[in-house]
Amino acid sequence: MSKFCINGGKKLNGEINISGAKNSALKILTAAILTKEESTISNVPDIIDIRSMIKIVESIGAKINFSNNTLTIDPSDIDSCSPDKSLTNKLRGSIVLVGPLLARFGEANISKPGGCLIGARPIDDHIDVFTQLGVKVTEKDNEYVFSGKPKANEVTLSKLSVTATENAIMASVLSTGVTNIYVAAAEPEIVDLAEFLNKMGAKIKGAGTHEITVTGVNELHGAKHDVMPDRLEAATYLMFAIATNSTLTIKPIVPQHMSIILKKLREAGGKFEIIKKGNFQCIETFKRDSLKPVSIDTRTYPGFSTDMQSPYVTLMTQASGESQVFETLFEGRFLYVDELKLMGAKIDFLSPHLIKITGPTALKPGVIVSRDLRGGAALVMAGLIAKGTTTIESTEYIDRGYEAMDKKLLQVGASIQRIEG
Ligand code: EPU
Repeated sequence: MSKFCINGGKKLNGEINISGAKNSALKILTAAILTKEESTISNVPDIIDIRSMIKIVESIGAKINFSNNTLTIDPSDIDSCSPDKSLTNKLRGSIVLVGPLLARFGEANISKPGGCLIGARPIDDHIDVFTQLGVKVTEKDNEYVFSGKPKANEVTLSKLSVTATENAIMASVLSTGVTNIYVAAAEPEIVDLAEFLNKMGAKIKGAGTHEITVTGVNELHGAKHDVMPDRLEAATYLMFAIATNSTLTIKPIVPQHMSIILKKLREAGGKFEIIKKGNFQCIETFKRDSLKPVSIDTRTYPGFSTDMQSPYVTLMTQASGESQVFETLFEGRFLYVDELKLMGAKIDFLSPHLIKITGPTALKPGVIVSRDLRGGAALVMAGLIAKGTTTIESTEYIDRGYEAMDKKLLQVGASIQRIEG
């Protein structure tokens, strides 16, 4: 258990290097077990969720080396379809191991997945997808047993689910025939995964749209892939910059992945430009005038990401007037609100999914607790804004998905200290 002590109220200046996307790297790592050959994945963020997934994939027999953000995986000796349950029940994302295990071995046993405390997070859509692919699913005690090689079929998701779409793709790549996936989620991380799979020899078309076609192939081979930049990390630092009225260069980014966030932040008075530097694009932020309240509702991509809802709420505490935030995806994603209120934020619940923020508030420093990854980022932002020392406890939630947030902030002039224990 570690804490961050932030002495807030300082302007930040300099460059923030954005890591590879967590939600892409996690799936690419599991996709790499679809062959016996070695794969090399670069730009992998060194975060707790990746370290956990490495242990999970090692627990079924893969050999993995991870250093300097590059991961090599040798899956030739995988001899189990039952990843270590004490590990999978702590990582919700471990459900994406089921698709590849079924495609390669026709079997997967997995404990009910865990993760952040952001809501019930059922896996019924995954079960529905596998069932449509002819897989038998049984539930006993705290475990799901999936059996049978997936058969090509027409698959329709019940709703736009990122990981269920990824499981549908990965389960189908080695089937005989063509699988059409309808009502597919369209997040950029799914496109990155499909690009990796196509490099392995898969035939996937339509990733990034709501209809994906997978033409099964007999076998896949090892591949090399560079994970795309993390759009959610980039958006987080952009909001940190706007909140603290700082001048930061955030790089690399893919602006198309962030369209609606960039639009809403501009409407709210954020001043920034997208510029090209050599081979990559970056965001440069400038000093701004006062912030305007802008209401948002969270939607699946390309809508305003649920993941960015929490830092956005902290930002809105600095806007002059009332804004509303409607969380449509996860019922538990307002956990951090009570902590912000301890710091003086004026936030009212209009319903369990809808809040009203009244600003601007001069946030007061305090001792607050992080309870989930993105809520943790919202609290760090509050700590950077509040003049004085704010202590954020349970930073392991932040470390699950943000690579070295404290070090990245230190480099741009924040006063932030990690205290272990
Ligand atoms: N849902 C179901 N049944 C299912 C699966 C999902 O009802 O079987 C519901 C969820 O409860 C939610 C909606 O469908 O209301 C969409 O959830 P989705 O399945 O898309 O979420 P996910 O795939 O579990 C991924 C990311 C999350 C991110 C969401 C939404 C990974 C490992 N996780 O989760 O990332 O919030 O998509 O974009 O890719 C994070 O990075 O902090 C994080 C939680």
